[in-house]
Amino acid sequence: MSVPAGKLALPELTEMKHRGDRIVMVTAYDMPGARFAEDAGIDMILVGDTAAMVVLGHEGTTVPVTMDEMLFLTRAVARAVHRPIVVGDMPFGSYQVSDEDAVRNAIRFVKEAGADVVKLEGAGPMVSRARAIVEAGIGVVGHIGLTPQSATMLGGFKTQGKTAEAARALVDGAHALEAAGCVALVLEAVPAPVAEEITRRLEIPTIGIGAGAACDGQVLVYHDLLGLTEGHLPRFVKRYANLSRDIRDALEAYASEVRSGAFPGREHTYVMSEEELEAFRAPGSVPVGD
Ligand code: KIV
Repeated sequence: MSVPAGKLALPELTEMKHRGDRIVMVTAYDMPGARFAEDAGIDMILVGDTAAMVVLGHEGTTVPVTMDEMLFLTRAVARAVHRPIVVGDMPFGSYQVSDEDAVRNAIRFVKEAGADVVKLEGAGPMVSRARAIVEAGIGVVGHIGLTPQSATMLGGFKTQGKTAEAARALVDGAHALEAAGCVALVLEAVPAPVAEEITRRLEIPTIGIGAGAACDGQVLVYHDLLGLTEGHLPRFVKRYANLSRDIRDALEAYASEVRSGAFPGREHTYVMSEEELEAFRAPGSVPVGD
């Protein structure tokens, strides 16, 4: 498959790791968000299944989002950008059952939605899914640690790899996903020393979210970093703006100006020439309706 001009090529990710250039990833779910991300020089855009929570209104779970919804969102993002690598996040149920399902749905992300690569959660049996997708010619980003699609099995949205045994299992999973051909690995909510060890051992880059500063890159959810998410936020989120406050203020000002008649003003209103207006208002110019 040829890479469109200007698009960051996948091998560049590993080169960035070896040069020590941090990889910047953010989620986006629509055209404006994706364009802002590209303009900011973001390297990878993840159309995350967090869409379930941050744009589709499901409370505290990514599980309900469907393939069709993810394809719809991914299409909007992929159409909007040129350079960043667009990662389509495979939703729960789209790859767990079989390698065939995983390949079929990964192909849909690339062919129908324009994703450059896909992401899936977990190691263990999911390593075989990742390998099958890679063998079909599609890049895969792995995701281990806190894997929200299986949060119920993990006992909630909790830090993973906190015991030596659990940390060793994460290291094993990371090696297995790399061996399966993954191009990068998201590490979510794992102790920093564990993420550091995985990062040191792998050739492919690690992208951390709640995994400390030693990862080769970082990812945050768009709505969290821009202050569009309300309520409790995980410890690993840093807010770089408070857009929900700005949006509320703007909408309240709009509502109040519409009610008071201050909006629209003359500058927002179209006019016509005096001559045309006079003709329009002349008796008989407008036929009387039935
Ligand atoms: O769906 C998502 O947004 C993610 C990130 C939190 C890594 O998987």
